[in-house]
Amino acid sequence: MKIKISLLLTLPTLVASLSLLHAADTQPLPQQRTQFVNNELWPDDKGVHINAHGGGVLYHEGAYYWFGEHKVAGDAGNKAQVGVHCYRSTDLYNWTDAGIALPVSADPASDIVQGSIIERPKVIYNAATKKFVMWFHLEMKGRGYSAARAAVAVADQPAGPYTYLRSFRANPGVWPQNVTDADKIPDKKNLLQRDFEGGQMSRDMTLFVDDDGKAYHITSAEDNRTLHIHELSADYLGYSGRYSRVFPGDSNEAPAICKYKGRYWMITSGCSGWAPNTARSSVADSIWGPWKKLGNPCTGGEEVNGVGYKKTWGGQSTFILPVGGKEGAFIALFDVWRPKDAIDGRYMWVPIQFGPDSVQIPWQDTWNLASFK
Ligand code: GAL
Repeated sequence: MKIKISLLLTLPTLVASLSLLHAADTQPLPQQRTQFVNNELWPDDKGVHINAHGGGVLYHEGAYYWFGEHKVAGDAGNKAQVGVHCYRSTDLYNWTDAGIALPVSADPASDIVQGSIIERPKVIYNAATKKFVMWFHLEMKGRGYSAARAAVAVADQPAGPYTYLRSFRANPGVWPQNVTDADKIPDKKNLLQRDFEGGQMSRDMTLFVDDDGKAYHITSAEDNRTLHIHELSADYLGYSGRYSRVFPGDSNEAPAICKYKGRYWMITSGCSGWAPNTARSSVADSIWGPWKKLGNPCTGGEEVNGVGYKKTWGGQSTFILPVGGKEGAFIALFDVWRPKDAIDGRYMWVPIQFGPDSVQIPWQDTWNLASFK
């Protein structure tokens, strides 16, 4: 028995080492990158295109952790076949594969069974509990996009492994703080009222931690027509019960947010599935609003992916990354989706320029962090 167990343990290790040796024989290590190269394949430390779509980046103790949807080839890649992938970097150009932080489950009864939909994972660190908390958009296997749930997983280390906790609709039986009497009238068109009892929908989403440690879940609700901003509970594992509606009826998706000079800046897209549309931006003095629309922040790159800045260079926002230790340095992260061959999706990371009341994202094919003064 003892022998059998040790054989089981050593055989895969041996095979893995042999294949590594083989790979080292045949493939030179990828060169160290010193710049961002947008819209191309982005090799990790093994020379494999980074597989972390719809992602977000956590900065923790001097290292960046990029979490995203692991896609496989073909349109099967639009569903979760593997899980949430994590990469680690200290310079933002060169990323080491840190493995699958949250794997899909083989158990058909699990929310995150292989074939469910896991999108736009984001991780934040809770300084009080010392836990890393992952939220993502979850759709149940075989039910299209109808579940519209948020899901939460937790870990002791930034790269995981993450333990899946639960999924839910948001704040059942709770009205947003900016609800009006008209919103409460039962009416087919009144989506806030429709979802009041069962909980509000949550699809495209991001997380944001404010300077005071309060965290927020910003998410597309009401059939993607209205954004909801929910304050999280102190442990970041659920909601506090306080939330607000933003831009009712304007159909915003792909929210990304940051705080700069005491103001909150948000980038979103319109709703056209995997196809690109015009990016949007807005600003507010309080996370609860009022939010002021600032229009399309993207400029330049007229020919990029055949659509240029008018359609987000063929991409869609996913995150705003504050560069560690560089005051005022923020990068807007976009996905270029390839739904017919999901694994081939590309990334565009573009530096943000802020004016007193404006935000611009001028196209760059290649650039480096020195461009932040
Ligand atoms: C997009 C959304 C993606 C994904 C896709 C599915 O609008 O931003 O995250 O849900 O629709 O069609």
